[in-house]
Amino acid sequence: MQTASFDAATPKDSATTLPELLMAGPLLPDLMARIEAKYRVHRWWEMSNPTDFLARHGAAIRGIATSGRWGATREMIESLPNLEAIVSFGVGVDPIDMEAARQHDIVVTNTPGVLDECVADAALALMLAVSRRIPELDRFVRAGRWRNETPPMGRKLGGHRCGILGLGNIGRQIARRAEAFGMDIAYHNRSPRRDLPSHYLYCDDVYALARESDMLVLSLPGGADTRRLINQRVLDELGPKGVLINVSRGSVVDQDALICALREGRLAGAGLDVFENEPEVPAELCAMEQVVLSPHIGSSTIETRQAMADLVMANLDGWFERRRVLTPVA
Ligand code: 8YV
Repeated sequence: MQTASFDAATPKDSATTLPELLMAGPLLPDLMARIEAKYRVHRWWEMSNPTDFLARHGAAIRGIATSGRWGATREMIESLPNLEAIVSFGVGVDPIDMEAARQHDIVVTNTPGVLDECVADAALALMLAVSRRIPELDRFVRAGRWRNETPPMGRKLGGHRCGILGLGNIGRQIARRAEAFGMDIAYHNRSPRRDLPSHYLYCDDVYALARESDMLVLSLPGGADTRRLINQRVLDELGPKGVLINVSRGSVVDQDALICALREGRLAGAGLDVFENEPEVPAELCAMEQVVLSPHIGSSTIETRQAMADLVMANLDGWFERRRVLTPVA
């Protein structure tokens, strides 16, 4: 294992000939072990004096290994004058300063394709959990209430419309699954897609989509362009029978407006895998029966995380062995 930290001595031994990487935050233990077996890794989050490290050692770093959680800031990118590649675990690159990477001609890779099905499964799990009130009914049974009370009824998915905001690869998998449950599909993207089934209803904007939808599912990228796109007006268009499902990024939703709409009964329920300030989740959301919460686990299955880790390794090795990566971010 070739782990290095600024605090440790950095002798001029064979280890120094390995490409040097900055790891922005902890990744899966297996993946960290695989990376550390082939690269000289500096663990950013364990450094006692990062500024000092960068001044003394920054010029040796050729790559950043990161994730959709840790990202890479402009400051970090610009403090590494010989940086060549940023290799990220996850499809979302919103916490990576892409503009800084472009300006400095740095290759950025993510892990698209391999997680679409699992994130779509997670969306459907939340849709079913909210509409059939599974967590609430689970609590009902555990509390022994079944003996004396009639369980509350849920709602059917079939016959209702699933609106998908962001019909990319993940959105398409959500649509396929929702259709299998008998739902109609509506969507909004920046422009209508020609490669979709013609019976999918295209809505011109997010307000029209919310108006047409019984469940509004968010599967669009995070970042400045989509920040707080789901505001009070969108939630009001979705209406008191409507349900919001978010498997994209917490930043896409005005979380205070969402809490307010749920509290006042202007929205029926929500299924949320992502939050504005993870891992913090407002206590008020946690207390709401009509809300189902999960801790950003859209892609978190053993199979998918393995595939994501393999892709991270393939991109890292591809760059440092052949100057070719498999999945560059355009
Ligand atoms: C990961 C994700 O959990 O792919 C993404 O964009 O949000 C998730 O698959 C995350 O990137 C890991 O930190």
